[in-house]
Amino acid sequence: MSEEPIADVAALFDLYQQGIVFHCVCAVTRLGIPDALDHEPREVARVAAETGCDEDALRRVLRLLAGHSLLTYDPERDLAGLTARSELLQGRHAMSLRATFATLGISDVAHALTETVRTGRPATVPALGTGFWEYLAERPEQQTVFSEAMAEQARLLSLPCVHLVDWPPAGTVVDVGGGIGVLLAAVLQEEPGARGILVDQPQVLDRARSFLKDEGVADRCAVRAGNLFEPPPPADMYLLSRVLHDWDDDGVVRILAAISRDADAAARLRIFEDLLPERGSPAPAQNWSDLVMMALYDGARERTLTQYRALLERGGWTFDRVVHGPPGMNVIEATRAG
Ligand SMILES: C[S@@+](CC[C@H](N)C(=O)[O-])C[C@H]1O[C@@H](n2cnc3c(N)ncnc32)[C@H](O)[C@@H]1O
Repeated sequence: MSEEPIADVAALFDLYQQGIVFHCVCAVTRLGIPDALDHEPREVARVAAETGCDEDALRRVLRLLAGHSLLTYDPERDLAGLTARSELLQGRHAMSLRATFATLGISDVAHALTETVRTGRPATVPALGTGFWEYLAERPEQQTVFSEAMAEQARLLSLPCVHLVDWPPAGTVVDVGGGIGVLLAAVLQEEPGARGILVDQPQVLDRARSFLKDEGVADRCAVRAGNLFEPPPPADMYLLSRVLHDWDDDGVVRILAAISRDADAAARLRIFEDLLPERGSPAPAQNWSDLVMMALYDGARERTLTQYRALLERGGWTFDRVVHGPPGMNVIEATRAG
């Protein structure tokens, strides 16, 4: 034990205080404050009135965030403004993280982690009273923000891998659990002769249709309501991007087996996922993601390549190769077994 624990006491207190910063960023983002602020600092009273906030409460939150360089706040003139960092919380920014901070997620269930660690079950049930997907399905507004958050993260994580692999020049690519279609649209833009089919839950598809239209690929991309546990339409290539880490091992095998059931013998599968190291400690971001999976979905986890290979085999696929992308993303390629 350290003889002079002052530095450790300070570090622990710092950590204790940091938690609230995350919640304040989520709160102001949900309230649309970054969108209401501009490059020119604005009076807090006006921003509060425009966004339907209590002026005093908003001022105190903005003042705290200014202390962490997330905003500017001038107490003499009562003016708040954005920094380069908080500009990224505006919906109109090309690399926006607005929905990532605004979505229902770990910030809403983390307080129930004690229960998760005791039971091994997700924190959603004690925190929200139900499973995560069920909760979203009953709340269309929350579902929309979550789908947007997945789109932001797909842009950041999956798109940098698109140019690392070849795509079928004239075939059909089915993206299973493809969200609003960020990855599939990029694939179709890369291969003008290819056609796409996006499969996801019915409540995601209206936004998917408008997104695919905006991306100029709607005429080559069908949109289908479907269940991960039932065979998707036939295709030359199937994509599963950041879907498998949401499920336990048996769920993953069921998803893989459902795809392989009606797939052509030559069909190929591409799985976009982060991969934990086979030995040693995962990176902090990987431990974070693994914990988020544990908190949100029953039995969900990040996995090593060895673990995915074993699951592929159980689900009727033969592992071919893995292409490593930038940190946080890899493309695992497989073909139908037998
Ligand atoms: C983590 S998101 C990934 C979305 C997208 N593939 C990406 O990379 O951003 C998981 C997706 O699985 C979909 N999903 C969850 N349960 C599903 C089910 N039972 N059937 C079909 N899709 C499902 C969700 O709606 C969501 O779009």
